[in-house]
Amino acid sequence: MKSKILNILKSSHTYVSGEDISKILGISRAAIWKHINQLKKEGYIIDSLTKSGYKLISSPDILSLDEINPYLNTKFIGRNILYFQSIDSTNSYAKSLSTDCIDGLVIISEEQTKGRGRLGRTWISPKGKGIWMSIVLHPNLPPSEAHKLTIIAASSIYATLSPFNVDVKIKWPNDILINGKKICGILTEMNAELNHINYLVIGIGINVNLELEDFNEDLKQIATSLRIETGNLIDRKKLTAEILNNLEKFYIDYLSYKNIAPYLEIVRKNSAIIGKDVEIIKPNEKFIARVVDIDEDGQLIIDKNGNLEKLLSGEVSLHNTYK
Ligand code: BTN
Repeated sequence: MKSKILNILKSSHTYVSGEDISKILGISRAAIWKHINQLKKEGYIIDSLTKSGYKLISSPDILSLDEINPYLNTKFIGRNILYFQSIDSTNSYAKSLSTDCIDGLVIISEEQTKGRGRLGRTWISPKGKGIWMSIVLHPNLPPSEAHKLTIIAASSIYATLSPFNVDVKIKWPNDILINGKKICGILTEMNAELNHINYLVIGIGINVNLELEDFNEDLKQIATSLRIETGNLIDRKKLTAEILNNLEKFYIDYLSYKNIAPYLEIVRKNSAIIGKDVEIIKPNEKFIARVVDIDEDGQLIIDKNGNLEKLLSGEVSLHNTYK
């Protein structure tokens, strides 16, 4: 009901009387007043005049379904959003869902208190400054194909960020860089049986409006935000919707044709590491190698002292590669 009232206010440029809202929605004026107060608490500025009614003056910078919806053109991704002010980790929440959870459900939080990165790392997620979200999908694929959805996600983020007129690069398997520094990380996890994915969680963290002081000294060297790189405050709502729009387009195409080639092409063409020497960190080994290519299955081909090797994304970390 609150959303319906908000929609009425959003679609009117002038005051709407309590009586009109009450007629349209069939609820009492007292109930309307209660919802209006709740909206005000959420940060909506609503002017109320005894004779004229209510007028929406401005909407808050929040990533609720009401705010993202006007920019969404998806069929199912993001049509259901679980929105939190604060949560430990949207990926942890998504992983705790039951196996029949909604396809395309998105879990978004304004902040994460225990945001998780790959290989057990922490992901800083300050309030209201980034996009911290997890997308739940039910692809009919074997678990061995799950890493391809990280490629789909990275390509859709690349497609979303490239119009910003900044130097966007993809660092296999899951990082997006701007001007050589990390702006986004993807953490793909799954709830699966041996041969079947029950559901997959694509966790996306984007440093949108973080400022320099949001990063500690170590992070400042390797991470950045869209705001820092463009000099502009970015509209998080539009950006969130655009990522979901692109992700759905790429995901549906991929599932229809089972062809990862167009997305691998995006990752290759805009790779931060192909042709460069990188430090490769495996659980029990560390070495420098030249990145040669990404193969048709999405594995990294490296040249280690003249021998070609393939790396699967699961357990490697690449360092100091993009300077
Ligand atoms: C990485 O670069 O190591 C991956 C970072 C992924 C961060 C996102 S933020 C939303 C989602 N919830 C988490 O706890 N992690 C992912």
